[in-house]
Amino acid sequence: MKSAVRQSEIGELVRSGLSRKAKALPPWLFYDTAGTELFERITQLDAYYLTRKERQILLQHSGAIVDVCVPGTQWQVFELGAGSARKTAHLLRAALERQRIVEYHPLDISLDAMLNAVEYLAQELPEVKVCPEVTDYTQSQPRPLASDAGGCKALLWMGSSLGNYEQAEAVAVLRRASAHFRTGDILLLGVDLHPSEGSKQKQDLIVAYDDPEGVTAAFNRNLLLRLNRELGADFRPDQFAHRADWNEASGRMEMHLVSRIFQQVHVAELEQTFVFQAGESIHTESSYKLTVQQVQELLQQAGFPFVSVWMDPQRWFGVFLGRRSSPAAADLSSTQR
Ligand SMILES: C[S@@+](CC[C@H](N)C(=O)[O-])C[C@H]1O[C@@H](n2cnc3c(N)ncnc32)[C@H](O)[C@@H]1O
Repeated sequence: MKSAVRQSEIGELVRSGLSRKAKALPPWLFYDTAGTELFERITQLDAYYLTRKERQILLQHSGAIVDVCVPGTQWQVFELGAGSARKTAHLLRAALERQRIVEYHPLDISLDAMLNAVEYLAQELPEVKVCPEVTDYTQSQPRPLASDAGGCKALLWMGSSLGNYEQAEAVAVLRRASAHFRTGDILLLGVDLHPSEGSKQKQDLIVAYDDPEGVTAAFNRNLLLRLNRELGADFRPDQFAHRADWNEASGRMEMHLVSRIFQQVHVAELEQTFVFQAGESIHTESSYKLTVQQVQELLQQAGFPFVSVWMDPQRWFGVFLGRRSSPAAADLSSTQR
């Protein structure tokens, strides 16, 4: 396995992202070696309810989920942004218990995440055939998904990662990834629900993205350290504050790095200097929180009409299942918002 991104691509993204009036960088840049480790620590925090809730749902309902998917056949599971695959192991275990042949294709931009997932699954579930791929799923159809090997396929996008995208972009990723899926194949989405769906309060959201231990702040600032390491930039991360905001109008959490002072940052690789006013921010992540209806619409637009949802009792998080009704379903529902 080798890295999916070239330094030149990162350089061009940084040049355009920091030249904009409202500075922004794409969230996949978080996941270098240090960022991947920091994200694993985030998933273990009390404050980060997303992983805890999704894990509970999968622990409790994996059997039921697998039963809806494929009655007694071979199962090919593809997961976008699989990370360490710890939660997915519950699903894979449930599938194995039903004596199915399970092939698991974790896809991730982070080489470290893939190495971690492979090592873990080799110990925990040696019966699963694991075929990892280091790839950027926004750029093209990941290679393993381009084959049409037959058998029943499941596409997973868990951890509410789809929330990092505008709905139309998320639909585009899903359509591309599932272009070779057939009638009966399934899509499983782990989604952090909009507060209006349950008892989640604004403060629960804020703490999840700005934990008292400061792990999420370190994760956010690591992006600057990555640019120092890989592009020869001279960011001083302590001169940028970590900020997590709930944007009520857009229904999303936002993470920012806010310059504490007026400062200039030179990026040697780009031979360019960027100016930051005091209080100016770099928008590093959006995390949309969706209503049940929005997820059902998204499933429809991706070509996998809604079948079922499993939620925690407080309705903070949901695991949604859609099933491809016909090969052309994705083309028929072309409305995008
Ligand atoms: C929020 S983490 C979720 C990890 C895991 N699915 C979970 O639920 O714990 C997002 C994962 O997606 C990966 N990722 C982010 N953007 C990606 C992209 N464009 N292509 C492939 N992987 C990506 C990251 O490396 C990271 O492992």
